[in-house]
Amino acid sequence: MSWIRLSEFAIILLNVFSIIYPAIARGGEYTSQFPGRHLLDDGDSKPSADVAKGYMSNAELENAIMAFGERCSNISRIYSIGRSVGGLPLWVMEISDNPGREEPEPAFKFIGNVHGDEPVGRELLILLANWLCDNYVKDPLAKFIVENVHLHILPSMNPDGFALRKRGNAKNVDLNRDFPDQFFSNNNVEDGRQPETKAIMRWLRRIQFTASASLHGGALVANYPWDGTQSKRRDYYACPDDETFRYLAGVYSHSHYNMSLSKEFPEGITNGAAWYPIYGGMQDWNYIHAGCLELTLEISDNKWPNASELPTIWEYNRMSMLNLVATVAKNGVHGRIFSSDNGKPLPASIMVEGINQTMKARVGLADYHRLLAPKMKYEVKASMPGYKSKSTAVMLENVTTLDFILDPEAGRVSKVLETACDCTGTTKSNLEVVDILAHPQLEVSLLVVVTLAFLLLLLTRKFCLNPPKQRQLPVSKRPIIV
Ligand SMILES: *[C@@H]1O[C@H](CO)[C@@H](O)[C@H](O)[C@H]1NC(C)=O
Ligand SMILES: *[C@@H]1O[C@H](CO)[C@@H](O)[C@H](O)[C@H]1NC(C)=O
Ligand SMILES: [Zn+2]
Repeated sequence: MSWIRLSEFAIILLNVFSIIYPAIARGGEYTSQFPGRHLLDDGDSKPSADVAKGYMSNAELENAIMAFGERCSNISRIYSIGRSVGGLPLWVMEISDNPGREEPEPAFKFIGNVHGDEPVGRELLILLANWLCDNYVKDPLAKFIVENVHLHILPSMNPDGFALRKRGNAKNVDLNRDFPDQFFSNNNVEDGRQPETKAIMRWLRRIQFTASASLHGGALVANYPWDGTQSKRRDYYACPDDETFRYLAGVYSHSHYNMSLSKEFPEGITNGAAWYPIYGGMQDWNYIHAGCLELTLEISDNKWPNASELPTIWEYNRMSMLNLVATVAKNGVHGRIFSSDNGKPLPASIMVEGINQTMKARVGLADYHRLLAPKMKYEVKASMPGYKSKSTAVMLENVTTLDFILDPEAGRVSKVLETACDCTGTTKSNLEVVDILAHPQLEVSLLVVVTLAFLLLLLTRKFCLNPPKQRQLPVSKRPIIV
């Protein structure tokens, strides 16, 4: 047998195993329950370098990202979120009509190549970016995405694993098992995690993503949280946003050429734990620690389809990818939250009755983006320490814009100040003076009262001459304001 024949044989073996054990995609624990799985572990039937024929190398991928950034500089920005173990930059393409600028719009992220040996996603993500660039003027959906979403695309989270043609990173760690897990106590720390994992964790602290998806290979299904179960058994384990997630996963599978026709997975979607539980996965962490609704998309039964099939696979996934991104602006309840006394944006919390998950408005702009399954009635509540919570019912068709204006809680004290002086700035010293005056039983001599009154006059004059800056008022006219 020649060398070429051997490598072909290895590919055939690989395909046979991926049909028998499709679950290898997200991977499972290598227990006797899934005896076949470690057959595909690195070392045994490692595919030869030949499988990557026609796929972009890491250098070519970097060139493609830079070329995109230059060609489409008016709607994009290229940045890196860190480096791999081997020192390769983890490049991101941001696509928006105002890239790099904070706007009251939802953000979506796509992550490809989490597993080094699952390269289809990174190819599709480059195609997606270029397609948006070529079509945002003439195609309404592309235009909608560019104008209403900040789309961040990380084509390869694991370039080292790709170079090595293996699942894990250069330290042989499966990155989709390296995140903090809800069933291991109090461990939302970066220490001891892989550089690629840390880069994602830092990224989510800087950018508030409404939803996201990572792209994998080895099956054809849209997978949603929870990925892990408390019992460690294979069981449907619903997260608080189960309805929302089923809707999002359905958007992907039903927009896909044939994902929803799956015989193995009804509608082409699955709860992660119902398929097989994993721990330390990226999607559960996104939802728990960042309120980001992340899906794990298995987009090709074959991890290394012949490169000539990539344009077809892109066509199969194109509408799914576009519709999923657009969903973050076309669905759910969106708005901003302001204070009633000075119009200041408030980074309040948004809760929906019956869903035990709090979403935060962005610090600064105070915009929130709460994805929810459409055609249902919801009770939405905004709350913020120091302010009275407000809630309102919405009948959600597809998308609703709902701004909140919250009243400060400390009503009495600020009322006194408002009458004493026509400015809303309150300071600690002001409050202390008012506090003393608010006690009628306080026995003070006339002299003290006169002195205090004089001091108060001085203070209020001082503050009236220096009104608080940034008395920003809600500018946009919105259909619903609560
Ligand atoms: C989807 O189409 C591809 C390509 O024709 C095929 O290989 C795959 O088996 C199909 N899957 C389903 C679930 O129909
Ligand atoms: C809500 O979720 C938190 C964890 O995020 C949990 O501690 C709490 O018990 C849950 N509450 C209800 C009512 O399920
Ligand atoms: Zn994978």
